[in-house]
Amino acid sequence: MLDSAKPKTATVTIDDQTFEMPILSGSTGPDVIDIRKLYGQSGAFTYDPGFTSTAACESSITYIDGDEGVLLHRGYPIEQLAGKSHYLEVCYLLLYGELPSGPELEDFEERVTMHTMLHEQMYNFTRGFRRDAHPMAIMNGMVGAMSAFYHDSTDITDPWQREVASIRMIAKMPTIAAMAYKYSIGQPFVYPRNDLGYAANFLNMCFSVPAQDYVVDPILARAMDRIFTLHADHEQNASTSTVRLASSSGANPFACIAAGIACLWGPAHGGANQACLEMLREIGTADRIPEFIGRAKDKDDPFRLMGFGHRVYKNHDPRATVMKESADEVLELLGVEDNPTLQVAKELERQALEDPYFRDKKLFPNVDFYSGIILEAMGFPTSMFTPIFALSRTVGWISQWKEQLSDPSLKIGRPRQLYTGETKRDYVEVEDRG
Ligand code: SDX
Repeated sequence: MLDSAKPKTATVTIDDQTFEMPILSGSTGPDVIDIRKLYGQSGAFTYDPGFTSTAACESSITYIDGDEGVLLHRGYPIEQLAGKSHYLEVCYLLLYGELPSGPELEDFEERVTMHTMLHEQMYNFTRGFRRDAHPMAIMNGMVGAMSAFYHDSTDITDPWQREVASIRMIAKMPTIAAMAYKYSIGQPFVYPRNDLGYAANFLNMCFSVPAQDYVVDPILARAMDRIFTLHADHEQNASTSTVRLASSSGANPFACIAAGIACLWGPAHGGANQACLEMLREIGTADRIPEFIGRAKDKDDPFRLMGFGHRVYKNHDPRATVMKESADEVLELLGVEDNPTLQVAKELERQALEDPYFRDKKLFPNVDFYSGIILEAMGFPTSMFTPIFALSRTVGWISQWKEQLSDPSLKIGRPRQLYTGETKRDYVEVEDRG
């Protein structure tokens, strides 16, 4: 809980008036200045487009220290979770706050497994899309449509329905993502199998075909599970903030997650892994890297190095470090360690990190830099990279959604503005407008 016992305060002086605001401290990380009464007392808003200096909520799920490159989920470092845990156990941790006991984990995995199938009518719903629709468009449409198929878990005031919706979302996202993929390549949908683990089941739904047996390679399943874990939650990023804002109006969980999916799709956010791979392909060979680094540094050129930089991490993205290890393992397993795209990626990383522009601006490879290389090596097209990110992040969105709904002080989110438009003026008839 917030430690508001400390008598620290901040003061704002406007003209001849001084306003005192309490400073609140969390369990770690920056203090916050509680400005909730500032407008009522002073008549002034605070101004923070992009929310670079704004804490929008209190949370106990994920903590990031951007300067130290730290990412904790309920206090556990991401490096330990990626190395010792697995995605469904991390889902339990994010949802319920503690690592599960053996029986608790077994029960949770059983509940998820038994919800992986979709209402059969959703298969018909999917067939309404064009075959060349982007899988994110299909995923967004299908998740939003879930509120039309699962009416018994849309009442957010009912804790049981919130729990059912949470399990359904985590369980069905791999099925939805795999369906979007199969539909886009014209292959038949593959149903989930209860004898496979979460990641293996997803790979089977994506890559098996009725014409022959398909055996999931355990190393690829492990790498897939690690990618899910590394993308599970990330504090109040753009898509999570979107889910929270949508939920503050009382919207049903499926509508809120669909809003998060829409936001994640942007190339500055979750769409960066697709954009990064496309950039690496455009670079093509190491000798063209200086040209692209030059463009990234050119203020008159909108080009940015996709997969570099982060709003919070100003040292290194701890997820990128783990992801790089996985990339080496997977490519060695697949015998493509000389993958030209990976070679360009490694040389680009080396040159960028030696360049004062990137070093001074603290622009390091982020989580999206290596994930796309692994996914491409596994056989996924770039259009499936962001759906896989969305699949992974669903537990983070759901956990933050549940946490917000449990806050008794929750009210609808309604930011204000600095208005710079026309002040009041009277209507002019068209014949008098000159
Ligand atoms: C994710 O928030 C999260 O937690 C997100 C995420 C999650 O798990 O949810 O971590 C997932 O979205 C990772 C980020 C993926 N996006 C990309 O890889 C796209 C490329 N990166 C940039 O678009 C950018 O770095 C952002 C959007 C990620 C961060 O932007 P900021 O913090 O607003 O920083 P900025 O755009 O203000 O850049 C600061 C400076 C600028 O130069 P100046 O105006 O100060 O002169 O750095 C430059 C920028 O021009 N810069 C880059 C750059 N990123 C920033 N220059 C070249 N290439 C880049 N990639």
